[in-house]
Amino acid sequence: MRNEDISSRPLCLSGRGVTKIFTTGKTRTVAVDHVDFEFHEGELISIVGESGSGKTTLSKMLLGLLNITEGEILFQGQPRDISNMHKRREYWRGIQAIFQDPFSSFNVFNKIDTVLLDCINMRGGKRLPMEKKIEMMTEACSFVNLKFAELTNKYPFELSGGQMQRLMIARIFLLKPKILLADEPTSMIDACSRATILDMLLQLRDEVGMTIIFITHDIGLAYYISDSVYIMEHGKFVESGSADDVILNPKAAYTKRLISDVPKIYEPWDLNTVAQ
Ligand SMILES: Nc1ncnc2c1ncn2[C@@H]1O[C@H](COP(=O)(O)OP(=O)(O)OP(=O)(O)O)[C@@H](O)[C@H]1O
Ligand SMILES: [Mg+2]
Repeated sequence: MRNEDISSRPLCLSGRGVTKIFTTGKTRTVAVDHVDFEFHEGELISIVGESGSGKTTLSKMLLGLLNITEGEILFQGQPRDISNMHKRREYWRGIQAIFQDPFSSFNVFNKIDTVLLDCINMRGGKRLPMEKKIEMMTEACSFVNLKFAELTNKYPFELSGGQMQRLMIARIFLLKPKILLADEPTSMIDACSRATILDMLLQLRDEVGMTIIFITHDIGLAYYISDSVYIMEHGKFVESGSADDVILNPKAAYTKRLISDVPKIYEPWDLNTVAQ
């Protein structure tokens, strides 16, 4: 993937001068400050920045959950129109998110069958025969190593954290959105299930050809999985480009600092230093 020129692929999501200013009383916070971006079909993009740099605010604007103060977001090259609920629902067919906390992703009153059936209905499968729907749900569950037969009639809160996270991915498997936004699951899960989830997302990307926007603090991980990396500091993109360019040849002082904070997994061993 990396060696292919991703920038020659069609644009999936792009933005010009996208800005969010929160005003509460007399306090004015510029959370996202005139960012430009171009995400292509099938591209895996990481947005990396420290806490408070504006990553979640930008994600919410990309998802259409938060109004933009200034600037423009384009979906497949056209200005995005989410001016009413109908258009917004249509947009959400194309872009879906998984959040840090799997518990916040489900309506606790819906049984797992309903959660998955809703996905099939959203994709226009409402009139399919029930046997077909069960077949699709079974396939989605087995993609994430869950057994559908054991989940029917259960509620999401009856699952373990890890199972719930996998159920979140089973939803994405059924919805097959063009774009998946993943606010990195950090604190909630251990490194092992984090790796499993990442593997599943990468596999989905290859199978469905999704664009994945991955939000993370972890620049080492971003280098490992991404085609492109955007570095965010105080609401601005201070640097962006291919993962190799940005991380092996960083220009911004902030990027250099983020890199110096992580173990040097991508630098070759310098035996001279080791010997000393
Ligand atoms: N609803 C809001 N009202 C006012 N200020 C807000 C609101 N949401 C976010 N902010 C402010 O905007 C800035 C960016 O916050 P944001 O949540 O986007 O950061 P983040 O990069 O996602 O951080 P983290 O890595 O900790 O999740 C912060 O200064 C935050 O306090
Ligand atoms: Mg955040």
